[in-house]
Amino acid sequence: MSANPYIPMLGVIVETFDETPDIKTFRVRLKDEEAMARFRFEPGQVAQLSVFGAGESTFVICSPPTRMDFLQFTVMRVGELTHRLHTLRQGDPVGVRAPLGNHFDHQSMKGKDIVFIGGGLGLAPLRTLLLFMLDNRADYGDITLIYGGRSPEHLCFKAELAQWAARGDMRVELTVDNPDKGWSGRTGVVPAVLTELAVSPKNAVAVTCGPPIMIRFTIQALAALGFSDEQIVTTLERRMKCGIGLCGRCNIGDKFVCVDGPVFTQAQLKTLPQEF
Ligand SMILES: Cc1cc2nc3c(=O)[nH]c(=O)nc-3n(C[C@H](O)[C@H](O)[C@H](O)COP(=O)(O)OP(=O)(O)OC[C@H]3O[C@@H](n4cnc5c(N)ncnc54)[C@H](O)[C@@H]3O)c2cc1C
Ligand code: FES
Repeated sequence: MSANPYIPMLGVIVETFDETPDIKTFRVRLKDEEAMARFRFEPGQVAQLSVFGAGESTFVICSPPTRMDFLQFTVMRVGELTHRLHTLRQGDPVGVRAPLGNHFDHQSMKGKDIVFIGGGLGLAPLRTLLLFMLDNRADYGDITLIYGGRSPEHLCFKAELAQWAARGDMRVELTVDNPDKGWSGRTGVVPAVLTELAVSPKNAVAVTCGPPIMIRFTIQALAALGFSDEQIVTTLERRMKCGIGLCGRCNIGDKFVCVDGPVFTQAQLKTLPQEF
């Protein structure tokens, strides 16, 4: 972060590629190589990424801190800022205010089985923690990823999904709502797959992110499997502006998603006003 937290560091896009028809990945390096070498973050932390002349928005740093060749952002085109971001190419500048927010408590997850449950672009924050764990594989028990999308073409990180499935030291279960001709995997919604697999809560943590409806039914399915509220971790999306707990834009009750979140356990979420 620069000395003034409102002033972004200058970044340069080093690579871009399409994930889905409306989701694109951007790999960014800080222009100042010393700042890049010094930059530290934890899985789950976010950045305010700016397109000069257009504004800034919040995106999770979806590469892990164990791989610092670049900072990866995977962005869905939904509105003005993300449309402008999608027009940028390799070599274009961006502003980066980061790292912001809290992070996944990976220390407390050591020695446990981890089940990742994601939908659509919700795989982005899970990816940073998953890659961090794969880079420290001996520290964790069984790792399972249950991931779904609207259709095969809407699944993100497709090349990596295949690599992870082939590793042999983690389980990958993919599902889509609407299969196409080439799809030979599961069909159906993510919470139903979770229930069918009957994932054990014993010494386990569930980490979930996706569309609100998916998260709601996933949490219900996890509870039915015997997961306690403390064993369920999720990340919240709440519009941010300052990102540093000063503007009051992102609060839920007395919590600021930009500093107290975006990562919360279900036990913590239950103490907040149910306004989201
Ligand atoms: C902690 C956190 C992490 C985030 N991480 C990511 C990430 O890794 N990748 C990513 O693409 N986005 C992420 N987001 C969401 C991202 O910040 C917004 O999509 C972005 O601010 C939209 O800006 P915009 O100017 O393009 O759209 P706006 O012009 O602000 O909005 C345009 C329209 O899109 C709708 N919209 C806004 N956000 C979304 C959304 N997420 N999904 C569907 N519709 C939406 C709005 O309601 C509005 O109708 C994150 C948000 C938070 C708070
Ligand atoms: S974004 Fe300003 S207080 Fe959270």
